[in-house]
Amino acid sequence: MDHISDILEGSRTGKSTEIRGWVYRSRASANVAFIVLRDSTGIVQCVASRENFPESRFKEISGLTLESSIVLKGTVVEDKRAPTGYEVKVGDFTIIQRNDNYPITKDLGEEFLLDIRHLWVRSREFTSMMKIRSTIFDATGEYFMDRGFYEVHTPFMVSTATEGGSALFKVPFFGEEVSLTQSAQFYLETLIFSLENVFTISPSFRAEKSRTWRHLTEYWHAEAESAWVDNEGMMQIEEKLIEHVVKRVIEDRSDDLSIMKRDVGRLEKIRAPFDRIRYSGIVKEPEKYGLNIKYGDDLGMEEEREITKRFQKPIFVTHYPAALKTFYHRPDPENEDEILCHDMLAPEGYGEIIGGGERIWEMDVLVKRLKEYGLDEKDYYWYLDLRRYGSVPHSGFGLGMDRLVTWICGLQSIRDAIPYPRTIRRFKP
Ligand code: 4AD
Ligand code: MG
Repeated sequence: MDHISDILEGSRTGKSTEIRGWVYRSRASANVAFIVLRDSTGIVQCVASRENFPESRFKEISGLTLESSIVLKGTVVEDKRAPTGYEVKVGDFTIIQRNDNYPITKDLGEEFLLDIRHLWVRSREFTSMMKIRSTIFDATGEYFMDRGFYEVHTPFMVSTATEGGSALFKVPFFGEEVSLTQSAQFYLETLIFSLENVFTISPSFRAEKSRTWRHLTEYWHAEAESAWVDNEGMMQIEEKLIEHVVKRVIEDRSDDLSIMKRDVGRLEKIRAPFDRIRYSGIVKEPEKYGLNIKYGDDLGMEEEREITKRFQKPIFVTHYPAALKTFYHRPDPENEDEILCHDMLAPEGYGEIIGGGERIWEMDVLVKRLKEYGLDEKDYYWYLDLRRYGSVPHSGFGLGMDRLVTWICGLQSIRDAIPYPRTIRRFKP
């Protein structure tokens, strides 16, 4: 059995082949039936001539409907007119299952396509997106492993919030209540004391009411944490990660990028280092970034869009005022009102893909911060213990993988970057 890619690579030309897959397109005249067949590796045109089959068999293949499954035997020829440059002259075939009324035709509404997502995932663009996504996940893990990070696994059912309590999903737990994790960060922090450098790629959950092009309620989160690394050191790890991932996608997935009509020239510019811009620098001259904001205002989706439209590479925005972020960020010793943190914003208007920074590692500072945020020390006893026993400076970050896919593929919405998006109104299929 061959894959269609074997044919497209030219290694079967002039030879016989056996391929199997699904009908991507079909049309027929009285004497020939054309079937564009697809499998996981590509599409190829297959042609059955009437003269080679008894009448009833020719009828079967010339009336084949979209997405019917079939096994074909035939001979491969090069043909410039065929959609992918090759053609299979069909000698024999077995129909595995013939469809009636495949529900996806052209020009369907977004909500309908989400309802039949389990079928829409077969579409050519979506298939390319999923291949690129697979490479992005692989390249992310590869980057960490090559640099001595250990992959670890942390609980999804948790008792503490990391990113504020308002956006937590509650789940019954044998008479008690737990939350679904928003971030593995605190658990990763516990693990650096044995492993020093750790990462995990796992789902995070946010009960966000916002239905925007970049929010999911369940998303994939790549998070890393390192002992002895400061804010600047963490940014260097991150920019090289993004450079590596983009390079791998260009190397391994150029065909898929072109199926998705992504401008590869833009991706080729993604080389570390990325600019670092202080929050205070942005609010000092907001008009330079197309903004009208003052010190203390948050940078939301719209502001990030304006800022990053002006850049060709990702940028870091650093040193936010403490009030704009959660409690665990380490205050800047040179200016206690600001924290040693950073967001990485993707270019072309995409905005935040990473949040990270240096963690408070001194006990007294953390206790003070918990109080200021109205949090109960008792809930965080284990997080405080890390500052009690052999505390060390450390930093980490979280990368929204679906946002990374959205940007790299050049998509309009995060919903197109994951097979089964979970948004505020959707948990089916
Ligand atoms: O900025 P966030 O909330 O940071 C944290 O959770 C840290 N505890 C991570 C860490 O340091 N270990 O989330 C990190 C990233 C964001 O930059 C964004 O890319 C993504 O997670 N993200 C979302 N992606 C999709 N849908 C949502 N609702 C998201 N919320 C955050
Ligand atoms: Mg953030």
